[in-house]
Amino acid sequence: MRLDRFLTRRTGLPSKEVLRLLAEGGLVVDGTVERSGLREIGRFTRVEMAGEILQAEVAVYLMLHKPAGYLSATTDRQHPTVMTLLNHPARDSLHLAGRLDRASTGLLLLTNDGRWSRQVTEPVEEISKVYRISTRDEISRETAAIFAAGIYFAYEDLTTRPAVLEILAPREALLTLHEGRYHQVKRMFHAVGNQVLALHRERIGPLVLDERLPSGQCRALDAEEIAFFQR
Ligand code: URA
Repeated sequence: MRLDRFLTRRTGLPSKEVLRLLAEGGLVVDGTVERSGLREIGRFTRVEMAGEILQAEVAVYLMLHKPAGYLSATTDRQHPTVMTLLNHPARDSLHLAGRLDRASTGLLLLTNDGRWSRQVTEPVEEISKVYRISTRDEISRETAAIFAAGIYFAYEDLTTRPAVLEILAPREALLTLHEGRYHQVKRMFHAVGNQVLALHRERIGPLVLDERLPSGQCRALDAEEIAFFQR
């Protein structure tokens, strides 16, 4: 939104008065005096007028190393949610940018920036996700070709997008997906007669789970990591 419009709406002052305040240097935007009402401001732009804070919400971007046993939800009656692992002051304003099943572990993102989380989760963005998987049975050589061709999911009446399977050991693999259907990894392995025993998300797009981050802990993303999903 434009700064002049934001100010007239927010303060109820006539636009003439807003222009006067701007010209007099009474507006401070993100720490510097702003004299143009044409400046675009966003939800997380700090705006002060004549020493009074009009807007000061800080954008928060966190990565959580999710342990097994926690639901990817903000509230639940039955199970502990990943929110209970956070003691961030902005916790109640955060939402999840993607999910993992309760038994799954690994990289989970939380933010209060809806635009940013849509870049992570919107199917059109086709953000890749990399999972490390342990299975009950040996992973056959054909599995990679079957996953690359796509698996038909009757419930949704669709075929999964080409996925890349890299077999690391007889019962261990890395799987890269560009979509996130319900229980997708488990269902794909089920379709080839195997079963996923453990599923750990290592990466979302270029963002890698920090290997120094212990399970159950979160840390703020750095500027470069935030920028991966900023348009
Ligand atoms: N696919 C699954 O089956 N489970 C997850 O947690 C993530 C992807």
